[in-house]
Amino acid sequence: MSRLIIVSNRVSVPDHKGAAAAGGLAVALQAALAERGGIWMGWSGKSSGEVEPEPLQMTQDGNITYALTDLTQTDVEEYYQGFANRVLWPICHYRLDLAEYARKEMTGYFRVNRFFAHRLAPLIEPDDIIWVHDYHLIPLAAELRQMGLKNRIGFFLHIPWPPADVVLAMPVHEEIMRGLSSYDLLGFQTDHDLENFAGCLKREGMGIEKSPGHFSAHGHDFRGGAYSIGIETAGFAAFARKAASHSMVQKVRQSIEGRDLILGVDRLDYSKGITQRIDAFERFITNNPAHQRSITYLQITPKSRSEVPEYEAMQNAVAEQAGRVNGAIGTVDWVPIRYINRSISRPILAGLYRLAKVGLVTPLRDGMNLVAKEYVAAQDPDNPGVLVLSRFAGAARKLKGALLVNPYDVDGTANALARAINMPLQERQERWRGMMDYLLENDVSHWCETFLNDLTSE
Ligand code: UDP
Ligand code: G6P
Repeated sequence: MSRLIIVSNRVSVPDHKGAAAAGGLAVALQAALAERGGIWMGWSGKSSGEVEPEPLQMTQDGNITYALTDLTQTDVEEYYQGFANRVLWPICHYRLDLAEYARKEMTGYFRVNRFFAHRLAPLIEPDDIIWVHDYHLIPLAAELRQMGLKNRIGFFLHIPWPPADVVLAMPVHEEIMRGLSSYDLLGFQTDHDLENFAGCLKREGMGIEKSPGHFSAHGHDFRGGAYSIGIETAGFAAFARKAASHSMVQKVRQSIEGRDLILGVDRLDYSKGITQRIDAFERFITNNPAHQRSITYLQITPKSRSEVPEYEAMQNAVAEQAGRVNGAIGTVDWVPIRYINRSISRPILAGLYRLAKVGLVTPLRDGMNLVAKEYVAAQDPDNPGVLVLSRFAGAARKLKGALLVNPYDVDGTANALARAINMPLQERQERWRGMMDYLLENDVSHWCETFLNDLTSE
């Protein structure tokens, strides 16, 4: 079996395992690599100030070798906080209104990709398979090819890919499309994302789809497919069974005093629809006064990308909104919303999912959303909770047992909450069983194997 080299901006560093909400990418890659082993290269998360970063910091943990690099402060600002998170992230999440393009940051983005290529190249042996992840590193294959590298290189995009009209609004869309076209295999979360990509190529005459999933663009032939990312389903379910007796989970159980728990878990990100969700919760309580005092809504929302202005602006806005709603609908002995800005470790999270009668997952747009899958995997088969899920999350394409909502429709989400809270046991079990069977079959190992098989087959 060839050696696998994974490259991503964010790496789940061994010291911090389970501690930080690094997001879905790091959680999934950690699970995928734990089985197969290999090298995982990426950013250390640290800045070297304005001095050239030290050579790669190599550490071994089990069968995974981590190779981390610092970035200069300018690089962090231009590449990560700038082009990746102020242009690519909003564009890919259909938020043209939030995209802030600056040519200097775009140059920084390409410069850091070249830097990654130069740091990575000495580690690569001729038979290695290289698998690059997410929007930070789109130009990496083109840079490696320029250096003469012949290995197979795959790319997986963890976030959505929008329709041509949205992509074309990005000033450097052609360079980005050329970067994507330099891989041997491109993986998207859903067939919609893949269709959008094919539409972008066609629209600008940049390339063609010669046969389903086989493309030719910018002078290169490559393949593309939809590979929905999964979780470690069986492992997470076992985790949740144990976690139910964790002292912190017990404390939460006692503190809600027999009330039904509605749970939201998201990085503090505008794509997650937290504002609309709080509105929907308020509407649900206002429309169903019988539920006043019988529900607690716990929203776990670790801060994310706080140096990016659009994220910083959100922090106060959401905190104020949660406070305002508590003031408006709470009573002297009932605080309806518990709003937490800290990251919760996964063992405790698993127990909280199991405790919650409703998993409320309502992003405005999301590549997949692993929280939705974890919520389902964590349920007690004898008494499962209900997943209320945005139709705009990639997860909604397959989790048909969820109550699907349009997060922009506050009344619709409020009604779904009422339906979830009142759903009879048999219906909950039927809905849950179908989703759980799907998740057991399509877990993270299946995702990893399917992608790598396709990447290594001609
Ligand atoms: N997560 C966590 N602690 C938290 C919040 C989230 O460990 O306090 C994890 C969560 O279990 C999930 C991931 O972060 O595995 C979030 O992935 P998702 O795909 O839902 O969203 P993303 O953050 O990648 O946009
Ligand atoms: C999403 C992205 C990942 C990213 C994660 C956390 O899952 O797809 O690439 O790692 O969010 O964001 P951060 O900026 O902290 O890495």
